[in-house]
Amino acid sequence: MNNVPPGIDPDKLAALLDRERAMWTDARPRTAALRERARRTQLHGTPQHWISQFPPPVPLVVDRAVGARLYDIDGHEYADFGLAATAALWGHNHPAVVAALRDQLDRGSVTLWATEDHVTVTEELQRRFGLPYWQFTVSATDANRFALLLARVATGRERILVFNYAYHGSLEYPESTKVVEFNDLDALERAVAPGDVAAVLAEPVMTNGGAVIHPDPGFHTGLRDLTRRTGTLLVIDETQTIPAGPGGCVRELGLEPDLITMGKCVAGGIPAGVYGMSDEVAAAAELYTKDGDGGLGSTLASGPLAVRAMRAVLTEVMTDETYAHMNRLAERYEREVAAVIAQHGLPWHVGRLGGRVSYAFTPTPPRNAGQLYPRVGAAARDALWLYLANRGIVLNGMSGAALMSPMTDESDVERHGELFASVIDELTC
Ligand SMILES: Cc1ncc(COP(=O)(O)O)c(C=O)c1O
Repeated sequence: MNNVPPGIDPDKLAALLDRERAMWTDARPRTAALRERARRTQLHGTPQHWISQFPPPVPLVVDRAVGARLYDIDGHEYADFGLAATAALWGHNHPAVVAALRDQLDRGSVTLWATEDHVTVTEELQRRFGLPYWQFTVSATDANRFALLLARVATGRERILVFNYAYHGSLEYPESTKVVEFNDLDALERAVAPGDVAAVLAEPVMTNGGAVIHPDPGFHTGLRDLTRRTGTLLVIDETQTIPAGPGGCVRELGLEPDLITMGKCVAGGIPAGVYGMSDEVAAAAELYTKDGDGGLGSTLASGPLAVRAMRAVLTEVMTDETYAHMNRLAERYEREVAAVIAQHGLPWHVGRLGGRVSYAFTPTPPRNAGQLYPRVGAAARDALWLYLANRGIVLNGMSGAALMSPMTDESDVERHGELFASVIDELTC
């Protein structure tokens, strides 16, 4: 079997995978029947292709999502630690978001005009994240698209630099995109030295390699110095790093980007993204849009429904108390995983960023995503996912990462710890 991480017995892993796959399908007849129906009208039989790539042999079909729980159409209940890959970070129906949406539904969902909420939201974004000017989009993908467009407009350069295996949405990267490993300042220096890169687009802490990859000490200072020295703009994508704190990593790490992008949880699960920019980028954007039909924005961007939800998130949900709860639970989750890893002497690592925790099958904290691909330990990741899900715990389907929401119960974290211990007992050599 390919992709078995060190410390795991391949035969036990294969047997467990077979057993858990059968157990999953046998207990979900309605889910399996719906999948067959969906295959006739949906590519891969799923509404988005990646759902078909997640570990369960028939993908979960949700009946309802409440708090930090999911209920499927076959009557199973799950503690949801996947939380829609950060989009449902605050829980599926946070009372402040639900109240805001109910109120706004009677007042209109899209008008292509401003509301008072728009100003409250951009004031709050400016206060939290530091950049002066903000615009709205429908998603984080779109926020990145427009940020890169403005970086090109502001610098007159075409090329973009991203870190290896970074994911910033379903953007198309031209062949001219430069790629270097995260935490490699020498490679970065060589790549930006010719002065042809419009922007470095980076997560402040990498999350998409399936792990939490922290910057080395001095990495962000080096990144900022190199970009400033070469006239390259720095775009910080906070989409997945909002769990780090109420001002994201930008505030936690004291970063000074030229543009910031985010989406997913900013409107409590309603489609929305935002991007912020410096005075200099704003000046370039004004020139670009001065003739009227510049290609920034889209009709559904900044709809009052999403913006009302965003106001609720920024003013009522992203509080110090929310983060204290998320951090406390995440610390416990991390501690319990670390104890099992230590007990079995596994050369694995568990990492955390605020309320986000994930394990990597590397003996030391990974420094870049290149160390984690192609999908190191993928078979074990699938096995862990299925074992936990068959017993009522859902992790992120792609990476196995866990997120804590303000609506997550500590008893679910405890249960995860017990189940993780028992599955590792079963799988180790
Ligand atoms: C860092 C980062 N940026 C942007 C995106 C795009 O988000 P969306 O798919 O909601 O547009 C993602 C999605 O996973 C992401 O991880």
